[in-house]
Amino acid sequence: MYSIKTIGVLTSGGDAPGMNAALRAVTRAAISQGIAVKAIYRGYKGLITDEIVDFQTQNVSNIIQHGGTIIKTARCEEFKTPEGRATAYERIKDHNIDALVVLGGDGTFTGAKVFAQEYNFPVVGVPCTIDNDLYGTDSTIGYDTALNTVIECVDKIRDTASSHERLFFVEVMGRDAGFLALNAAIASGAEAAVIPEVSIKDDMLAEVIQNGFRKTKNSSIVLVAESKETGGANGVAQRVKAEYPQYDVRVVILGHIQRGGSPTAVDRILASRMGAAAIDALLEEQRNLMIGVVNDKIVYVPFTKAIKDDKPIDLKLLQVLRQLSI
Ligand code: F6P
Repeated sequence: MYSIKTIGVLTSGGDAPGMNAALRAVTRAAISQGIAVKAIYRGYKGLITDEIVDFQTQNVSNIIQHGGTIIKTARCEEFKTPEGRATAYERIKDHNIDALVVLGGDGTFTGAKVFAQEYNFPVVGVPCTIDNDLYGTDSTIGYDTALNTVIECVDKIRDTASSHERLFFVEVMGRDAGFLALNAAIASGAEAAVIPEVSIKDDMLAEVIQNGFRKTKNSSIVLVAESKETGGANGVAQRVKAEYPQYDVRVVILGHIQRGGSPTAVDRILASRMGAAAIDALLEEQRNLMIGVVNDKIVYVPFTKAIKDDKPIDLKLLQVLRQLSI
């Protein structure tokens, strides 16, 4: 049995739209259950360097609609070392923090898992990443907003692609996962998606070039997930240009635009539910797990599963894309 009087909350790794909404939910759910909240600025880095501030309900007023994170974020190399984590634990004791709620993605939960085991300390994670690559949850906070950003951009690219009768390769983020690329391709009516889950030799590229381009259409858009293996949109475009020099090819790399912007209603609601669930989990004496949502129900996913198991992508969606892009 342990009682939680004070939690520390931090945002870490790549930011995601809805992180602020999740921070608000964690803060207010905790306070409404009589738990004090300390916000740790700049993720694990701020835990080590003691950037820790008491938070009241008003500290999270007027933030649900904003992208980014008001308590900043960082990727922290020091927390990967035993010495860094020892300093972090000292700070936790100095501030009488009884449990941590960490908002982030794969790297954040990897650090949380090691720290929780090393110090037998309660940590609960809230999945915030545009990549949607965490196992055990149907969606992560930020993914829906990023998806909407991508399709808005592709709609605009379509106008110029069509006027010039060009073939565009549009690179989207996702780290090693193709969720953004594949679902944005379907939602924007793109001709194909090149994703890391499908090997280069089986991808849709040859098909789209040979069957689609210039036969029934006057423009083509291929969404390409960033990937070291394919070289992303530039790598794929080079392959195509070498084989089909007659095509007028252009590349757009959407980049960090996908990480910003006001979160969608879906992400705000997901963040609010998951943030509140993180406090419920701690009060139920759950620890070292990530909050997930499966079939619209809150679930608890051990960190080990959330970060280790590959989240499966539904490859039937590629079939849908094929059928609808003829
Ligand atoms: O994990 C989120 C993400 O945006 C990935 O899609 C991308 O590969 C990476 O972070 C980019 O990281 P950074 O902002 O450090 O360049």
